[in-house]
Amino acid sequence: MSEKEIIQVEKIDNVGLIRMNRPKAMNALNPGLLSSLMDALESLDNQDGIGSMVITGNEKAFAAGADIKEMSSANSIEMLKDDFIPSFDRILEIKKPIIAAVSGYCLGGGNELALSCDMIVASETASFGQPEIKLGIIPGAGGTQRLTKAVGKAMAMEMILNNRTLSAQEALDYQLVNYVEPLDEYLDKAINLAQEIARRAPLAVQLGKEAVNTSFETPLSRGLKEERFAFYLLFASQDQEEGMRSFIEKRDPDWQGK
Ligand code: CAA
Repeated sequence: MSEKEIIQVEKIDNVGLIRMNRPKAMNALNPGLLSSLMDALESLDNQDGIGSMVITGNEKAFAAGADIKEMSSANSIEMLKDDFIPSFDRILEIKKPIIAAVSGYCLGGGNELALSCDMIVASETASFGQPEIKLGIIPGAGGTQRLTKAVGKAMAMEMILNNRTLSAQEALDYQLVNYVEPLDEYLDKAINLAQEIARRAPLAVQLGKEAVNTSFETPLSRGLKEERFAFYLLFASQDQEEGMRSFIEKRDPDWQGK
């Protein structure tokens, strides 16, 4: 694996680990990094034997936002024509669970990327924020929407309007992250969590992820209908039969993803 690669992909057992690798720019998300990241996620999503993915940066920065230097001279029409935000949205099509392992700065588009993952494991040194207001702009990759759902209106307002950053512990208190771990343990924690999930019944994991995400997008009544449909659908799978039989026979299940 070359130091120069903008992302580094590794397979650890049944987990695909993707490291963003622009350390000199604090992993600022330029189009090249974003598209390589999304290509890697899509490739891992299609690989048998991989059950989940972890995205990480380095100890200093998960990602410090969209690349300000590349955006600084752009005007509205150029931004509209380049339209780089939809490249963030490619992550929404990924079927397998994605865990963000966050250390250091998780800012702007970096925080929006973490919010688009399914779970976040943070190191004690992580800090979360939407500093766009300092640049005279607002978040553009989902921050105003997803952050508000994650931390609530009052805190989202403070973060977006007044650059309030959350420490790892505050992020845990506000339910933005699942775990806070010491610096030398956060990545292992994220990988272990991803491995555990990857060992579970694949179809149920996929439909469970989809159903939870539906709750962000639709009114409750439609979300409940979709959940019920997915629940009934899983009774057509061999894994449901195997899961229930293994419980009754007091043994571990052997998942086939069928
Ligand atoms: N874009 C481009 N370059 C960045 C960057 C970014 N978002 N964040 C950091 N860098 C670069 C710095 O310019 C610097 O490069 P040079 O060595 O060439 O000068 C290098 O990374 C190291 O950064 P600092 O010297 O600033 O390091 P620091 O430890 O003093 O500060 C920091 C770290 C607090 C993260 C600071 O760099 C910072 O405030 N970065 C910008 C954060 C930000 O505003 N993010 C929002 C971007 S806009 C956005 O994301 C829009 C969206 O919703 C899609």
